[in-house]
Amino acid sequence: MTLMYCRYGIITRRVTKCLIFLWLYLITRTTPLPLPKWNSRYDPPVHPLHAQYKDEIDDAEDIFTQILKYNKGSTMKLYHGDIAMNRGLSATQCTDCLWTKSADEAVNVPYRLSSDYTDDEKSLITRALQDFTTLTCVHFVERSTEANYLDIGSGSGCWSYIGKVGGGQFVSVMKNGCVSRGIIQHEIQHALGFYHEQSRRDRDAHVDVMWQYIAADDWGNFEKIDTDNLGLVYDYASVMHYGRYSFSNTTGQPSLVPKPEPSVDIGQRYGLSQLDVYKINKMYNCKLCSFLLTGTSGSLDSKNYTSEYSSASSCLWLIRVNNNKAVLQFDALDVQPSAGCSSDYITVYDGASTMSPVLLDRACGNQALPLLVASGNVMLVEMVSDRAFTATTDFKATYSSANCGGTYNYDNGTIFSPGYPNLYPNLVDCISTIWAPAGHQIVLNFTAFELEFSSSCLYDYLIIKDGSRSSSPLLGKFCWDMSIPGLISTGNVLLVQFHSDSWVNKPGYKATYYFVKSS
Ligand SMILES: *[C@@H]1O[C@H](CO)[C@@H](O)[C@H](O)[C@H]1NC(C)=O
Ligand SMILES: *[C@@H]1O[C@H](CO)[C@@H](O)[C@H](O)[C@H]1NC(C)=O
Ligand SMILES: *[C@@H]1O[C@H](CO)[C@@H](O)[C@H](O)[C@H]1NC(C)=O
Ligand SMILES: *[C@@H]1O[C@H](CO)[C@@H](O)[C@H](O)[C@H]1NC(C)=O
Ligand SMILES: [Zn+2]
Repeated sequence: MTLMYCRYGIITRRVTKCLIFLWLYLITRTTPLPLPKWNSRYDPPVHPLHAQYKDEIDDAEDIFTQILKYNKGSTMKLYHGDIAMNRGLSATQCTDCLWTKSADEAVNVPYRLSSDYTDDEKSLITRALQDFTTLTCVHFVERSTEANYLDIGSGSGCWSYIGKVGGGQFVSVMKNGCVSRGIIQHEIQHALGFYHEQSRRDRDAHVDVMWQYIAADDWGNFEKIDTDNLGLVYDYASVMHYGRYSFSNTTGQPSLVPKPEPSVDIGQRYGLSQLDVYKINKMYNCKLCSFLLTGTSGSLDSKNYTSEYSSASSCLWLIRVNNNKAVLQFDALDVQPSAGCSSDYITVYDGASTMSPVLLDRACGNQALPLLVASGNVMLVEMVSDRAFTATTDFKATYSSANCGGTYNYDNGTIFSPGYPNLYPNLVDCISTIWAPAGHQIVLNFTAFELEFSSSCLYDYLIIKDGSRSSSPLLGKFCWDMSIPGLISTGNVLLVQFHSDSWVNKPGYKATYYFVKSS
């Protein structure tokens, strides 16, 4: 009630009173931060929702540093930090060690997961293997009776043999440490026949080894191997690359320095790189058009990717962002139309495989598509053509990420702020698309609404757009305890954006929507 004085910014003698109430209001803000620290509004963002996706996003240490940490006490004799010796042969010989290709061009690699793993661990390992299956012709299949297979279990540390060694070969993915996507994909790549990137014979052109910071006993970990580089460029971003400080015996001094540009990132934290995928497809001679896109945002123009795959009949783009939700906006779509989009089409999956739920089902022609928000940080775009790709099979899109939100393409749903009815977290940006079938409109009614106080919606706010682009007309920007009228879309898409800043948490909002036939 008292805040009503400030609500309309009346410049009268009430101003003093208003300022007092404002001050009282500010000191009772639910945050423990002391008042004078105005600058804390600009503290670097800490996303509270990140924690739940620990396995999917950056960790504090690069992958190889983690591997070395867990291998410290390993009872296994390991080369180059995590490579097991190949039954009396040299650890660095991979003759005839590739997995065999079957008649259908797929390289099936049978695997078995130890029963020591919990269901969550099993699911995480399976998802790490799924990336190979989606993006390469190496397909991991559960072992039935095959003689040669990967026996994945919780051994002493994180390690693998190089390539296929025959029989049930152990891949050690120790519980409480090694069960993360990056480490699993690293060890699996060894099992497919790959060495560490900086042991390539041409590595001296790309990194300097700082021998003076490496104990003589560890020099062997930096030997070069006569690898086949498959004509591919050196990959600083490979999941197979050591970190900058791997095996350094002097705190703060690197063992590897990229050149000519020393600041180039090495020792990444997320898993397979685009070139790792390429390398596997080259090594196994996979005739596949597939790409991996990572980071926080980027763009994809199918023309740039498909030019060298003009004879392919399908291409896949796996998008994995370092945030909770992957977001995709098509800027242009130009796909040969056909009845029911049966010949050429684009499908977007809500997950990492073509078996995942569908977000966009068979789109073709030349249409504007709504913004798509995945339920997790991964999205898969598939482009299919019954002929070879031509100028009329094309799209342009940009991807980005959000902390929360979703795609609501079913009737009679409910949308709410993260955590509702509990207080929403600080520093979140949510994006939701409500998407009705063509020829329908959306009716949206709020049943609860309470955000941070601000008469001009500067801090925490909700934006609703009549369409699905940031350029779509604004239906309203709402905050505080404004009463929001029932809203009706003009077309069949509404965009709902929620933003919270680094201060003050409130219960947020809840709204129900339903679809109606356009009149
Ligand atoms: C690190 O290794 C180098 C080369 O083997 C050696 O000269 C140096 O003394 C070592 N430094 C420390 C702190 O052990
Ligand atoms: C695609 O290629 C065009 C021209 O070759 C270039 O301007 C554009 O930036 C490229 N887009 C991407 C996403 O690489
Ligand atoms: C949505 O709700 C309306 C009214 O309650 C009902 O008539 C309609 O059948 C519902 N639609 C679906 C798909 O449940
Ligand atoms: C929802 O909003 C529409 C559009 O303003 C309105 O006609 C309808 O009565 C509202 N429904 C409820 C349950 O408030
Ligand atoms: Zn390794």
